[in-house]
Amino acid sequence: MNTNDSIKAQLAGQWAGFDPNELVSDATGNLISNRGDWDPPAGIEPKRPLIHMAIGIPDAGTLPKDDFLKSTRKVITRPGEAAFIYGFGMGYAKLRAQLAERYSRNRGLQVDEEWFQLTNGSSGAIDLICRTLINPGDVIITESPTYMGTLRNFRGVLAQIKSVPMDEDGMLMDELEAVIVATQAAGKTIKFIYTISTFQNPTGATLSQERRIELLKLAAKHRVLILDDDAYGELYFGAKPPTSLSALSAGHGVITVGTLSKTLATGLRVGWIHGRPDLIRLMGKMRFAMGLNQMVVRLIADYMSDRTLDDHTDEVRDLYRRKMEVLTGALETHAGDLISFDRPLGGFYLWVKLHQGLTADAVWRTATHEGVSTTPGISFYPARFDPSGEHIRIAFPWTPMEDLEEGARRFGLACKRVSEGEGLKQR
Ligand SMILES: Cc1ncc(COP(=O)(O)O)c(C=O)c1O
Repeated sequence: MNTNDSIKAQLAGQWAGFDPNELVSDATGNLISNRGDWDPPAGIEPKRPLIHMAIGIPDAGTLPKDDFLKSTRKVITRPGEAAFIYGFGMGYAKLRAQLAERYSRNRGLQVDEEWFQLTNGSSGAIDLICRTLINPGDVIITESPTYMGTLRNFRGVLAQIKSVPMDEDGMLMDELEAVIVATQAAGKTIKFIYTISTFQNPTGATLSQERRIELLKLAAKHRVLILDDDAYGELYFGAKPPTSLSALSAGHGVITVGTLSKTLATGLRVGWIHGRPDLIRLMGKMRFAMGLNQMVVRLIADYMSDRTLDDHTDEVRDLYRRKMEVLTGALETHAGDLISFDRPLGGFYLWVKLHQGLTADAVWRTATHEGVSTTPGISFYPARFDPSGEHIRIAFPWTPMEDLEEGARRFGLACKRVSEGEGLKQR
């Protein structure tokens, strides 16, 4: 045995039995103990190759690969080395100016690049906001149900999550006020109200214009910030959604996060925090990652000149509306009176309510066995309990158009099997 080998053998002995879990922080421990919300059901072998309807990813055919190739070439051959070195601060100024120009043009609030800070997707934006604002035990109020990825963000900073039920017009304002009043009376600090105000994940619901005003007034009265997660706001299928919370308030008391993940591609990891400059500059203090990928932000900026993103967004809106129509029509045919849903007016998701005593857990497992992946409703509830009944979320943009009918047929088969007592149960 040479010296190196004997050191390795000695260290292996000394570290024998070491469990890395012993070292983790309370917050990480909290996350480890939860089932992965994106995990497929354990121990179920699909009968046929899976049709994927569980994850919110844009249609593969819409990825602008040729445009990206041209832009990448331009970025790399440009004189200078800016694309190859660290980029500090709020992010590439040209891209922030382009976002501001688009926002001013489409949303009715005149803003400049100081209103935007670039981040690693909108989940990176939420992470930065949480790390800047949250002390362990601070309260964050969310819609119920809400996007489970963000719940992980909140758990990761040991926030206390309180949630407010919603209907088809979004969060219920009376219930929200009751939660605010009770929480503040108990001496707790509420740091913000988290809403996905437009084409919500998972329900597809949009906060109505009236409720937007009510929410702004309520939040100001109790001096609680609003965090609006606007991942889907541009993906409307017909009429434009109501005016954004940011534009309605001129940014007073509102921080918004946005992303290119749902309009362009999830792998880009380009998102932003949008808000009043004094507020969003604060978040910059908690950036330790030495800036974003400088190549990608320049590629996007080049792609966005000539309003290419506007044309692209028009195309995907139309495609996702058609996909939603095919899917909902096929579900009506194949699952009929076992389910119901509201047709979404935009976004990525169909929130399916199960009837006749069907449980989401059994339908989810059985659907996987039949060859279609979906997400059980309880994943989206902070308390892991769905008081409004059993739901399944179906995501449709990533599923190829030609698979939607078959996906719905398999889902319908699963519902029937469960209703006839032939479904799969948790082992
Ligand atoms: C509401 C919401 N916010 C944030 C995200 C994360 O997006 P990003 O890829 O921008 O981090 C998602 C992704 O599904 C989402 O649905």
